[in-house]
Amino acid sequence: MEFSELIKARKSIRGYLPKPVPREVIEEIIEVAKWAPSSMNTQPWHVHVVTGEPLERIRQGNTENMLKGVPPKRDFPMKESYEGIHRERQVGIAVQLFDVMGIARDDKARRTDWVMRGFRQFDAPVSLVLTYDKYLEPAAISQFDLGALSHALVLAAWERGLGSVINGQGIMQSAVVREHAGIPDDQNIMICIAMGYPDEDFVANSVKSVREDSDKLVRYVGF
Ligand SMILES: Cc1cc2nc3c(=O)[nH]c(=O)nc-3n(C[C@H](O)[C@H](O)[C@H](O)COP(=O)(O)O)c2cc1C
Repeated sequence: MEFSELIKARKSIRGYLPKPVPREVIEEIIEVAKWAPSSMNTQPWHVHVVTGEPLERIRQGNTENMLKGVPPKRDFPMKESYEGIHRERQVGIAVQLFDVMGIARDDKARRTDWVMRGFRQFDAPVSLVLTYDKYLEPAAISQFDLGALSHALVLAAWERGLGSVINGQGIMQSAVVREHAGIPDDQNIMICIAMGYPDEDFVANSVKSVREDSDKLVRYVGF
């Protein structure tokens, strides 16, 4: 697939077939994605590929904590609520997803169910947990590098027929992920990427998010 076609065709996948992903395929994806650029070629990333029992324990731990009302705790500070246009776009994608899923605004039970799926990493067969070394804090530039790696990973996966969703919810209880994935204490957990073969019958997978017109985000100077 041409790059321009690939980047536009990829979309987040939130429903997966219960089909294991061969380790060799993940290895190939990582071999490709690690060519992402990084600040001064520091390549500050670690990728912990989790499946099977440990991933089930993470799902269970996340679910228990969220149901108990344990406040989310990530390894880095983050603004928890968006405002203005960012909030509008956040609501926009949620509306698209809830519409196709037939989840009504006032259907609290199904809304909660959807949120809990997110904490379970959408029951994907594999989770890639991305971390960076703690000593790099304040780590904005390394976090930027992990973003570049994330995009490369999801594109390389898509090229191989694998779906994925970059999943902030999955690491909102970072202590749970750390415990069950055996993440060393000297690494900070940035994000996880849920990955697997897309379930074509899962309607949320049909959602195509939108992008702003370029003239809203670009200024050309000196042309
Ligand atoms: C850092 C980051 C965190 C995300 N966390 C979640 C998440 O927790 N749950 C979810 O359903 N989607 C999550 N997403 C996916 C975004 O909602 C999605 O990328 C966006 O709506 C654009 O849609 P697309 O990926 O289909 O192009 C996340 C994406 C990024 C980049």
